[in-house]
Amino acid sequence: MTLQAAQPPSDSSRTLYGGKGTRRITVHDIAAAKERGEKWPMLTAYDAMTASVFDEAGIPVMLVGDSMGNTHLGYETTVPVTMDEITLLSAAVVRGTQRALIIGDLPFGSYQEGPVQALRNATRLVKEAGVGAVKLEGGRRSLVQTELIVQSGIPVVSHLGLTPQSVNTMGYRVQGRGDEAAHRLLHDAKAAQEAGAFAVVLEMVPAEVAAEITRSLQIPTVGIGAGPDTDAQVLVWTDMAGLTAGKVPRFTKQYADLRRTLGDAAKAFADDVVGGAFPQEEHTFH
Ligand code: KIV
Repeated sequence: MTLQAAQPPSDSSRTLYGGKGTRRITVHDIAAAKERGEKWPMLTAYDAMTASVFDEAGIPVMLVGDSMGNTHLGYETTVPVTMDEITLLSAAVVRGTQRALIIGDLPFGSYQEGPVQALRNATRLVKEAGVGAVKLEGGRRSLVQTELIVQSGIPVVSHLGLTPQSVNTMGYRVQGRGDEAAHRLLHDAKAAQEAGAFAVVLEMVPAEVAAEITRSLQIPTVGIGAGPDTDAQVLVWTDMAGLTAGKVPRFTKQYADLRRTLGDAAKAFADDVVGGAFPQEEHTFH
């Protein structure tokens, strides 16, 4: 697999990706990018070291997603992830970065009871972890939560389409197929914008529907399995870098083969230890 070096857009002084500033990206920078028609990349991150690599690579927005349940905590779904887990890992990602806007995910059970619970947990992520924004699943069904959190001064991203926290009712399948479902999705996206969300994630949505939503909104859309016409694209980093074991979603593109690289390094170390080739003189104190 070849690694392609992406080229930053030509006026790179103020772009989100490849921009020169070192201060944290804000939601105002995100809004300005939509006005310029600039596309931008977003990755998930779950620890300080990996986040620092992505920050140095110029990734302008990182999501401490509840996908950590699958990628880092060994759960089968995102449902068991807790506020304590998200807060701990979000704080690490914030500490590992200087420029990226860090979005903390509100996990299942942390906002469904109502706006007061949602605000309490969003506030915890901002105060204890230092995130610049939070994400929650649902359009109209999370409207009052979005409104109160935004009115309280915390930027919100809405997550529409396939919402993994609803796996037990929704399953993992493409959402928004057919006129009625597409209309409902557009309505949800507009409601999220109206409630004050500064961006909308569209997961596993037909490309044409995502394109229509992107044209209809003033705020940016962030696609994951939503075709090429959203304003931004997000991937789960372990899928993107080939660290995930087994099958990854069809919408993922694998840019490296970290699972093989890391496994080979571990085996080489083990072989050296067993065969007596490590440590050598240069690794040894006298
Ligand atoms: O938790 C997560 O990583 C997400 C992205 C897939 C958007 O919600």
